[in-house]
Amino acid sequence: MAETSDFFSRRCVWVNGPIIVGAGPSGLAVAACLREHGVPFVVLERSDCIASLWQRRTYHRLKLHLPKQFCELPRLPFPPGYPPYPSRRQFVDYLQSYAQHFDISPRFNHSVRSAHFDETSGLWRVNSLVAGSGGDSRCGEVEYIGRWLVAATGENAEKVVPEMQGLTEFGGRVVHVCDYKCGEVFAGERVLVVGCGNSGMEVSLDLCEHGAYPSLVVRDSVHVLPREIYGKSTFELAVLLMKWLPVRVVDKLMLILSWLVIGRTEKYGLRRPSAGPLELKSRSGRTPVLDIGALGKIKSGEIAVVPGVKRFSAGKVEFVNGNVREIDSVILATGYRSNVPSWLQGSDFFAADGFPRRPFPNSWKGKSGLYAVGFTKRGISGASSDAAMIAKDIGRLWREETRQGRRSRACMRRCISQLQ
Ligand SMILES: Cc1cc2nc3c(=O)[nH]c(=O)nc-3n(C[C@H](O)[C@H](O)[C@H](O)COP(=O)(O)OP(=O)(O)OC[C@H]3O[C@@H](n4cnc5c(N)ncnc54)[C@H](O)[C@@H]3O)c2cc1C
Ligand SMILES: NC(=O)c1ccc[n+]([C@@H]2O[C@H](COP(=O)([O-])OP(=O)(O)OC[C@H]3O[C@@H](n4cnc5c(N)ncnc54)[C@H](OP(=O)(O)O)[C@@H]3O)[C@@H](O)[C@H]2O)c1
Repeated sequence: MAETSDFFSRRCVWVNGPIIVGAGPSGLAVAACLREHGVPFVVLERSDCIASLWQRRTYHRLKLHLPKQFCELPRLPFPPGYPPYPSRRQFVDYLQSYAQHFDISPRFNHSVRSAHFDETSGLWRVNSLVAGSGGDSRCGEVEYIGRWLVAATGENAEKVVPEMQGLTEFGGRVVHVCDYKCGEVFAGERVLVVGCGNSGMEVSLDLCEHGAYPSLVVRDSVHVLPREIYGKSTFELAVLLMKWLPVRVVDKLMLILSWLVIGRTEKYGLRRPSAGPLELKSRSGRTPVLDIGALGKIKSGEIAVVPGVKRFSAGKVEFVNGNVREIDSVILATGYRSNVPSWLQGSDFFAADGFPRRPFPNSWKGKSGLYAVGFTKRGISGASSDAAMIAKDIGRLWREETRQGRRSRACMRRCISQLQ
């Protein structure tokens, strides 16, 4: 890689290899697989650390919900002795040693603002805003130019904060779940948790365990499954059954087994969607809740289930059924979204919702050297499978590009980019 010397005055950087945007598990997995193919790369990360979602935007008690064998990145297993469901800290430690093992050093504090394919030069031009680090408040813009672009910014890049009537007049504490760390600070408070996905359920449990009084908003239907069925991971069981049976049959079996383990959730205000959990996941991406204790607290009444919110007023919330509750704080566990449309320009590979238009398993490769990793709604195992395919494809192209005779083309591109 050729660079000018002064960090803040340089404008243009040629990248001999792919530019990977995002240093979460997906970006790291692609980088590691590229190493194996001998392809150099640059990873740009807006935060000041790898896996910022896991390090900065998740609560302390978080553990992987899926068994560890489904959450390993390619080519490096979890250390021996890790529990079946590693904690957030253990997962972060693993990712850090993964980055070290494959010698991946992302460029931190590089927030990608735009990326477009320049038809004339046949190159990607990626513009990033670089924030100073270690007390240095200077900012600068750097353009990275290269043959390939890998989008690895994740399905959960930005928090979703819905418009809710009267929320500005509420007056109490309002936080999105990405800023929630631990229930301790809410002890003794009446807390409204909006959203009943895995985050809303687990945060409600955490609040209970720290002496708060949570009410969980369930505005529609939700699939709650036990994390384990008779000692076997529910997810693993579903994956196993899917090898032989159609989705609808597996869904039926999973619901019967869940009913045997946790009973009818409808009794507690948790109505099930008409589509089964796996069908719903593949159709709309909605993840079923894997219960790790919240349901027990709902059954015992320690977590109240309440309907959709109509409006907020000072210290109060009114629900769609007309009931009113006094509350002290609100936690918005209302989900996340991809941010690709905000920075990727001139490509129709991604739809307006920030996900590739083509479904899995064809969602990893676009046109003109564009790739996407970690947008399959299949968690870390989906990202790992994308990463292996992307690296194989780029590895092949890299070998062709760098073969004798093609070198001049790469050099010419390099000259062009240095002149911009
Ligand atoms: C609370 C929670 C728990 C989860 N638990 C599991 C689980 O147990 N198992 C599982 O398989 N999945 C789980 N997931 C899903 C999970 O998000 C992913 O599987 C995993 O983190 C995806 O990795 P990623 O690299 O694709 O995205 P991320 O981890 O989100 O990483 C993307 C990176 O890109 C960076 N970035 C974003 N925009 C830019 C930009 N413009 N410029 C530069 N950098 C940028 C971000 O800062 C971030 O570091 C969980 C998700 C959440 C929210
Ligand atoms: N331990 C773990 O592994 C773990 C823990 C937490 C999260 N996760 C994962 O992280 C991802 C994100 O999970 P998440 O729970 O944060 O988000 P999510 O699954 O997208 O759930 C968001 C929830 O907010 C609700 N909601 C949105 N707007 C609302 C509104 N205006 N009023 C009421 N409810 C509203 C949604 O209801 P509707 O369904 O009605 O839209 C949904 O229940 C998922 O993949 C999840 O599996 C994993």
